[in-house]
Amino acid sequence: RVPAVGVDIGGTKVAAGVVDADGHILERATTETPDRSKSPKVVEDVIVELVLDLSERHDVHAVGIGAAGWIDTDRSRVLFAPHLSWRNEPLRDALSERLRVPVMVDNDANAAAWAEWRFGAGRGEDYLVMITLGTGIGGAILEDGQVKRGKYGVAGEFGHMQVVPGGHRCPCGNRGCWEQYSSGNALVREARELAAAESPVAYGIIDRVKGNVGDITGPLITELAREGDAMCIELLQDIGQWLGVGIANLAAALDPSCFVIGGGVSAADDLLIRPAQDAFGRSLTGRGYRPEARIVRARLGNDAGLVGAADLARLVARRFRRTN
Ligand code: BGC
Ligand code: NA
Ligand code: ZN
Repeated sequence: RVPAVGVDIGGTKVAAGVVDADGHILERATTETPDRSKSPKVVEDVIVELVLDLSERHDVHAVGIGAAGWIDTDRSRVLFAPHLSWRNEPLRDALSERLRVPVMVDNDANAAAWAEWRFGAGRGEDYLVMITLGTGIGGAILEDGQVKRGKYGVAGEFGHMQVVPGGHRCPCGNRGCWEQYSSGNALVREARELAAAESPVAYGIIDRVKGNVGDITGPLITELAREGDAMCIELLQDIGQWLGVGIANLAAALDPSCFVIGGGVSAADDLLIRPAQDAFGRSLTGRGYRPEARIVRARLGNDAGLVGAADLARLVARRFRRTN
């Protein structure tokens, strides 16, 4: 029952934590994600530094990485990551060599889904779909306690389904991806645009950042929305509406019992989830003639990724010890 370290590598920050067997975080460490223009090695260095620091105070036997990218079937390489510089990167072996403990690599949303199913809002659900709204949109399918990976490991990349032909350019290279309309980045982009245009609805937020439009962040928008700022409430409604429509499409394809919404934007709670539930209710095909999935907020919030990565790493390390 030794603790494991989980590391969640997103487009904005790298969050690491020592996690016990019950999913509790004993200690955490966070830094900013190096810019996408930096070499892959720089992100690797950041991970190693965080893990070694935590290892000084904890007996760490396994390390789990939840990375915002596409992981291959044997969970050793990051094939591609829209928001990071990794391209066909042998991350697992590079890290286990440097850290000298078993390392498990998985997609960040897959790790989050695992944590919510084990310890959080999706406990005991036999067909769960996870959606994380952060820099992008992460997705995962968990059926009967197993993450569904598709044939080549990259199932669940819901964020890159096209929802607006010819729409906003996405860092994946395409246009009109879902994550360009329903994510932390989308939220910030819209707020900054309104502020830059000096729209009268943006006076509240312009005031708060003293005119520095670049200082507008997702957490600030959520904070202002909670205080009743009309523009911020509306922006979260827009994000929520895109979320609900996308979820209805996923329900048409997958028919799960439960959708768990996580990632940084989920901190907005009902300001996001209600509009999503409404849009879902208005867009679900066959509504009125079929059971409807629940839409709930991730109970572990933005910690789900790191908690899940640590727990998966513990399982992998245990299996490794048994067979060796
Ligand atoms: C990536 C996913 C990742 C998600 C959330 C997307 O842009 O393609 O792999 O899970 O962002 O971080
Ligand atoms: Na995934
Ligand atoms: Zn895309």
